[in-house]
Amino acid sequence: MGCSLAKNSGSKSGGKNKDALQEPPPVAAPADPRLPLTAKQKYSMMASWKGISRAMEQTGINMFIKLFEEHQELLTLFEKFRELKTKEDQVNSMELAAHATTVMNTLDEGIKGLDNMDTFFDFVHHVGALHRKIPGFKVEYFWKIETPFLTAVEQTLGDRYTENVENIYKITIKFILDTLVDGYNNGESSSARKPAQTTT
Ligand code: HEM
Repeated sequence: MGCSLAKNSGSKSGGKNKDALQEPPPVAAPADPRLPLTAKQKYSMMASWKGISRAMEQTGINMFIKLFEEHQELLTLFEKFRELKTKEDQVNSMELAAHATTVMNTLDEGIKGLDNMDTFFDFVHHVGALHRKIPGFKVEYFWKIETPFLTAVEQTLGDRYTENVENIYKITIKFILDTLVDGYNNGESSSARKPAQTTT
């Protein structure tokens, strides 16, 4: 409002105006059209995710406990913890914690990769394709983790999980799950990951 950035000729002050040398307020660059988030939403997502990064293991454990609460039948797919029948066993299991962390680290890499869609797709497609090797896994199982993920994020973020933030997480997890499904369906399970390209 009332910003005089248009003064780009005939400066009357003559001297070097410090303000003129400063970057304008951050106007987010347009997001990649393949990303279903606006540039502002992407920024909010990445900022909010920092709160999850600090509680990655616990968020992952909560997510899996919720998954097994809702879909006990999925437990049998997990060789390392299919014996963990009660919630208490699951909460205390190092194997479950380790797997929860692996999955959360994958989401972490995916979300941090939202700035570069080529890298994002390569990576998430690859993870989706890895699931082809899991005996008994069906592609539709990916969607079973949508609600547990959102519930676990809400638990970790507490008050920071505003309506706006919730909306952004919903879009993001749908996008990631869609991409995992594509990766699974197109299934080159040995796909090599391209070296990350850095753009400035
Ligand atoms: C956000 C979605 C998910 C992500 C990012 C994800 C990621 C991963 C990753 C990175 C691995 C390790 C793969 C490897 O090292 O070969 C894995 C393994 C596995 N995933 Fe997923 N996964 C997701 C959802 C699911 C869901 C919903 C199920 C439910 C059935 C599932 C079942 C499995 C199983 C059974 C394994 C093998 C575990 C083992 O025995 O080590 N995944 N997942």
